Amino acid sequence: MSTPYYQEVTVVGAGTMGNGIAQTFAAAGTKVNLVDVNAEALAKGLATIEKSLGRFVKKEKLTQAQADEVFGRITGHGQLSAAAGSALVVEAVVEKLEVKRAIFAELDSLCGPDAILATNTSSISVTEIAAATSRPDKVIGMHFMNPVPLMKLVEIVRAQETSDETVRVINECSLALGKTPVETDDYPGFVSNRVLMPMINEAVYCLMEGVATADGIDTVMKLGMNHPMGPLALADLIGLDVCLDIMNVLYDGFGDSKYRPCPLLRRMVAAGNLGRKAGKGFYDYQ
Ligand SMILES: NC(=O)c1ccc[n+]([C@@H]2O[C@H](COP(=O)([O-])OP(=O)(O)OC[C@H]3O[C@@H](n4cnc5c(N)ncnc54)[C@H](O)[C@@H]3O)[C@@H](O)[C@H]2O)c1
Repeated sequence: MSTPYYQEVTVVGAGTMGNGIAQTFAAAGTKVNLVDVNAEALAKGLATIEKSLGRFVKKEKLTQAQADEVFGRITGHGQLSAAAGSALVVEAVVEKLEVKRAIFAELDSLCGPDAILATNTSSISVTEIAAATSRPDKVIGMHFMNPVPLMKLVEIVRAQETSDETVRVINECSLALGKTPVETDDYPGFVSNRVLMPMINEAVYCLMEGVATADGIDTVMKLGMNHPMGPLALADLIGLDVCLDIMNVLYDGFGDSKYRPCPLLRRMVAAGNLGRKAGKGFYDYQ
């Protein structure tokens, strides 16, 4: 990759998405600063990257020397100030508007005037995040999918003030990462979650109303619709709390009753049955 926008990139947040994004940029030859306020999370993120690269070596998609080279391009940091010299910053911290707005305001004062600030948010309004900066034309959504090193899609979210030039750079950058970018407008859930989450929510309604068992619902969607995974198993993988949060974003954002979260989804979240990460969701994982 040649333009200054991705000779050096800073990724903020070393969790599930951040470490995958860092690995993907490093694999494309970019020097990466990986920032996390939590030292344990940073160490875990770096270890996850090493493990993931190890799997590429095992599958003979990379040599050990290439994997070492990719890992060598990534440096861990505890402070946002590491982003000061980067022309592109990709934020992947927790899905909380106030946390993201605080980070963007700080990045705005730290980074050079031409730096592009991207967010990996899956549901928050990119326009509201951009409004925390003095450069809303250079703020954009760069929505990667999990697991980032394997999934081809990047949803590029054009906020109210995002410039054509910023969209062009992020589009080109996504292609250089080997991804397929799709441009979307900044409406709740963009395309991915606006289509996916109501399907998951409807599957939970089917379960609540006893239309079929969880396994029955998932089998219909796998064998009948050729989905690689049933909607309830997918909800368990994503996390039922995350699914509920996104349904609430759609419900609040559109004010349309068709996005009301299923009462069973609410009840499972209240009980702590959040899916795989909790050992229990629509299926048991213990
Ligand atoms: N998990 C997914 O499948 C998925 C898919 C697409 C998009 N997203 C989006 O990506 C973002 C990150 O999600 P995730 O699943 O990786 O979350 P995560 O909880 O795994 O990781 C978030 C990380 O951010 C760090 N963090 C929190 N505050 C910070 C700060 N002020 N500065 C630096 N680091 C900070 C935390 O320590 C944590 O390590 C969210 O906006 C989410 O909506 C998630």
